[in-house]
Amino acid sequence: MDTRVSDTTVSLDKADTATKHLLDAVRGCTFDDFLFAPQFSVLERRDPTTIDLTCRLSEHLTLRRPIVSANMDTVTRAPMAIVQAEEGGIGIIDRGFKPGDIEPQVREVEIVKRTQHGVIADPYTIPLTATLAEAGAAMRRSRVGTLAVVDGQRRLKGLLTERDLRFVTDDRLTPASVDTRMTPIGKLVVHEGAISIDDAERLMVERKVKKLPLVDRHGTLMGLITAKDILKQKRQVFATRDDHGRLRVGAAIGAKGDYLERAAELVRVGVDVIVIDIAHGHSVVMARAIEEFRKRFDAVELIAGNVGTVDGARFLGERGVNAIKVGIGPGGGCTTRLTTSFGVPQLQALVECRAAVGDAIPLIADGGIKRHGSIAEALLFGGDSVMLGSVFAGTLETPGDVVHKPVLLPESQKAVKVPFKVLRGMASIEAIQDRLDVEDADILDLQALGAEGLEVSVPVRGSARPIFQDMIKHLCSSVSYGGASSLGELKQRFWTRPERYLIRLSPAARRESYER
Ligand code: XMP
Repeated sequence: MDTRVSDTTVSLDKADTATKHLLDAVRGCTFDDFLFAPQFSVLERRDPTTIDLTCRLSEHLTLRRPIVSANMDTVTRAPMAIVQAEEGGIGIIDRGFKPGDIEPQVREVEIVKRTQHGVIADPYTIPLTATLAEAGAAMRRSRVGTLAVVDGQRRLKGLLTERDLRFVTDDRLTPASVDTRMTPIGKLVVHEGAISIDDAERLMVERKVKKLPLVDRHGTLMGLITAKDILKQKRQVFATRDDHGRLRVGAAIGAKGDYLERAAELVRVGVDVIVIDIAHGHSVVMARAIEEFRKRFDAVELIAGNVGTVDGARFLGERGVNAIKVGIGPGGGCTTRLTTSFGVPQLQALVECRAAVGDAIPLIADGGIKRHGSIAEALLFGGDSVMLGSVFAGTLETPGDVVHKPVLLPESQKAVKVPFKVLRGMASIEAIQDRLDVEDADILDLQALGAEGLEVSVPVRGSARPIFQDMIKHLCSSVSYGGASSLGELKQRFWTRPERYLIRLSPAARRESYER
């Protein structure tokens, strides 16, 4: 059993005065119950590039922006996870794939890990003997535009890019082998041995090349550096990257069935953090799952949830998880509270869980955030980061098809076709149905499974990126209004003297504040 919680836990009876004040203040409360009183601002400018919003995602992982996209099958697959990580947050790839269908989730993780690099340690290769048609198929499958051409001993022979294949559509040409179109090694700039990114950049500028393959002294392919990656590393200064310069990504698994096998495959392709995600994380099922997981993956960063009480947070903390996901029923696509009458208002849940585990274990405030201001609330009341689902619904990067539905314009009474995408709770009938592969099952059988989620249509919007960036700007403004110069400082000030900040709203004040 992990000792961190008992060592550092504020026993709630002995909690300091400020924590007690907070515990009392938030009982039965959620986001729209509060405003914060503005404090003397010390910032000249609310500049997101200079205000430090660094947070801990989990014990060993840091984010420069405290945003996590939810592991929902209508929210986070590779495109969303890439935007999140490039902007400084992280995406958690959902497990909404059918049991035994592990490969599709693994593919999504692989795509994120291969989006950008410092040095690509294992570039996609194609044998010298392959045909152009095979090379084209390999590019489409891997979604990369450059293949290293190698011989049987993995010695570099050339590079083949999308451009080399651009006009190769003729049936007579595609059976030709890749060496007919590749740039042969003699015409490439190749570096022997290791090289720093700065030196690689200098060399590439000097020699006017965009790709730098690395080989050992026998000519064996050791890696590839691309100008695109170097540029991205420089432009996206807040991006969440691993030690190899690759974007970080998480993936969710369940607590039963194929979860260990799924975890093994995800770890194999370099997932940065695993989330054991079940609706009620304070349970015998979770205890067993964590125990089994830890037996197999001792060093893998593990987040578990969801919980929403002191006991729930301690229960997970004592089992050695690296972060705890907090939220029982606040989610936009969630009907748990309606269907069971169980749940905890999200701000109460956050303060209780924070008081339970102290600073030892980071908390992810999961669900219920509809307006940007609630992010600051979730972070001040105890979250280290926030997990968001519906806020990103309908964006370009969410999975799912666009469907056009007629919508009646009130002014003209004319129907226009509006594009929609689906957002659904992971415990909705539809999501369960897809996961269990029971399309033929009677709807009553499905209801017997105890659905706790909704499916709704959401108008299609643009990219999630500007939404993310707007949230960050608004969070910086919150830091400024709160009289701090960084998120960390604001949290510290809040937990030292919460009474200076907290304004409990009357119904009229709530209407004045949040109803527009
Ligand atoms: P938001 O409010 O950001 O919340 O959309 C996202 C979170 O909602 C949770 N979630 C569910 N909870 N039944 C639930 O009880 C569901 O079907 C469901 N789907 C998602 C989940 O924690 C997610 O991160």
